[in-house]
Amino acid sequence: MMKTKDENMKSYITTPIYYVNDVPHIGHAYTTIIADFLKRFYTLEGKETFFLTGTDEHGQKIEQSAQSRGKTPMEYATEISQVFRSLWDEMGISYDHFIRTTDSYHIQAVQKAFKLMEQKGDIYLGEYEGHYCVSCESFFTQTQLKENGGCPDCGKPTQLIKEESYFFALSKYQDQLLKWYQTNPILPSYRQNEVINFVSQGLNDLSITRTTFDWGIPIPNQTREKHHIIYVWLDALMNYVSALGYGQAEEKMDFWKEAIHLVGKDILRFHAVYWPAFLLSLNLPLPKKIYAHGWWLNEGQKMSKSIGNVIDPRETSRKYGNDLFRYFLLREVPFGQDGDFSFNALIERNNSDLSNDLGNLLNRIIGMSEKYFSLSLESSVEEYFPEEIKQIQDIISSALLEIPQARFNRYLEEVWKLFTLGNGLISQYEPWNLMKHHKKEKTQALLTLLCNLLYKGAILISPAMPSSAQKIFFALGQTEGSIAELHQNITKFQLQKIDPLFPKLEKSEIQPSQQVAQAQQEKTTSTMIKIDDFLLSDLRVGEIKEAKAVEGSDKLLCFQVDLGEGRNRQIVSGIAKYYNPQELIGQQVCVVANLKPAKLMGLISEGMILSAKDENSLKLITPQGILKNGSKIG
Ligand code: ME8
Ligand code: MG
Repeated sequence: MMKTKDENMKSYITTPIYYVNDVPHIGHAYTTIIADFLKRFYTLEGKETFFLTGTDEHGQKIEQSAQSRGKTPMEYATEISQVFRSLWDEMGISYDHFIRTTDSYHIQAVQKAFKLMEQKGDIYLGEYEGHYCVSCESFFTQTQLKENGGCPDCGKPTQLIKEESYFFALSKYQDQLLKWYQTNPILPSYRQNEVINFVSQGLNDLSITRTTFDWGIPIPNQTREKHHIIYVWLDALMNYVSALGYGQAEEKMDFWKEAIHLVGKDILRFHAVYWPAFLLSLNLPLPKKIYAHGWWLNEGQKMSKSIGNVIDPRETSRKYGNDLFRYFLLREVPFGQDGDFSFNALIERNNSDLSNDLGNLLNRIIGMSEKYFSLSLESSVEEYFPEEIKQIQDIISSALLEIPQARFNRYLEEVWKLFTLGNGLISQYEPWNLMKHHKKEKTQALLTLLCNLLYKGAILISPAMPSSAQKIFFALGQTEGSIAELHQNITKFQLQKIDPLFPKLEKSEIQPSQQVAQAQQEKTTSTMIKIDDFLLSDLRVGEIKEAKAVEGSDKLLCFQVDLGEGRNRQIVSGIAKYYNPQELIGQQVCVVANLKPAKLMGLISEGMILSAKDENSLKLITPQGILKNGSKIG
């Protein structure tokens, strides 16, 4: 079948839009990094790409989270949405648009879709009676629940609800869906099989409005006494087209039929069953692919706030360097399967794959080129190394074949064969011996070959490790390349010496300050921070309720501080030389409230009291007048 030029030249990549009920963790970063990898890969291929991410802000779960924090849903959603966005910015995620489901164009698109589905005859009024999991925002029948009544997906308790509701005629689309799966839209195929099994068992119509809470998009014509808001999953899934202008100017809708949705396996059913049914109802094309990845655990355990083992992507990327973090996530686990996150495994990847294989190869090439050719190489490689050139091309071809299979880890494994080959060629030909035997031309041809190999390798790793690839391009005296450059050989290289790309990391417990220093070699150091970075610290006014000296320490005082949380916080502070504990009781101070708890002289300290110091004395920072305890400082 002939493909039109348009089809070949466009690509649309999406991540799930993340719930704003909680801050991002590495699972969110994982999906977003894969999407970013794909965006960069397709750009290398010369495609016009559109990469969408954003936040899912409506629904009962968000309403409840906001309430429990004493905020309006909109305030809360805005705050957390910004945390996601600033994280992606900091991590260099190359999204083209960041959607919020509270954006007005999105709301209009959802209402328009609702009307069209109604006109199509796919929506009818009824009553929903069944179970609801607020955490998954998902409906279940009694038989689907776990034995203890818990949600079959997340295990949390469900609610029994009975309310007037509009339904979507999902059952009507069963056959069309089953037919669609025959085109293999879902990868890996074992995930597609799960979906086929699910749909083959028969589909129930889907409740698509709720009346018992408010935080959502109202249906377009409220004719009932009860106020209906649109089910959050219908609202959320529509983001993939509303972001392209659906229902309005439609300015980007030509990307739609090229859509690749990246999702975790937890939300595959919504994307592979409900979403295509909605699209069929709207007479829109179905997405081209859905790639469903597995679940990240932390050292074998589920990550959860209550266990306190959630890995913070911002901290990890800062500490270890963004490129290592990306490489690890992409390389460590076969796409689709569950993975285990461990810092030792991350360090192992750095020390073996990055430092030994890649970093070392670059060092050796630069070192020998400097020693024998003053960093300036010129040679035709075809004459001396036709066999090796073919080997390089074979590796490249097999690497590229992995991408359409969504086997991103395999892609990197294949690319690493290039570096293994490069290091192997050095051992095999021993340039130092060639030089001894006056084979200068062959040595120069070998080094030129190795530079070509590394240049191609850098092009291929650039979607995964953009900043390291840039450094390699620089060292090789090249500007960045495209896929087309993979099949040509360069005859001239003017090399530059650069610092080691991936210094080895120690596995043992390293002082955080050292880790930061190591990771900072990766980044350009700057003392400027963005407002979002500043806003990450939660500064509060607190009142000192109790204060006492810490036994065995002449520096520390131990305080009980009221931050308006209904309980006092214990904070240990090194100000004993400057203050007598008694004089501080009743004083209001400024506190960093979201510091990770630390142990000082055996005492837990849950925050930090701010002070300033000059050469003579230290003073606590206090509000200029009395404020409510817990007032936010900003
Ligand atoms: O489901 N391992 O949002 P969400 C791997 N708003 N991936 C993980 C992960 C983990 N431990 N934890 C989260 C929603 N993810 C809806 C989506 S889309 C129209 C609406 C990733 O904040 C993974 O991509 O719960 C998963 O599918 C997604 O975050 C769920 O994010
Ligand atoms: Mg979730």
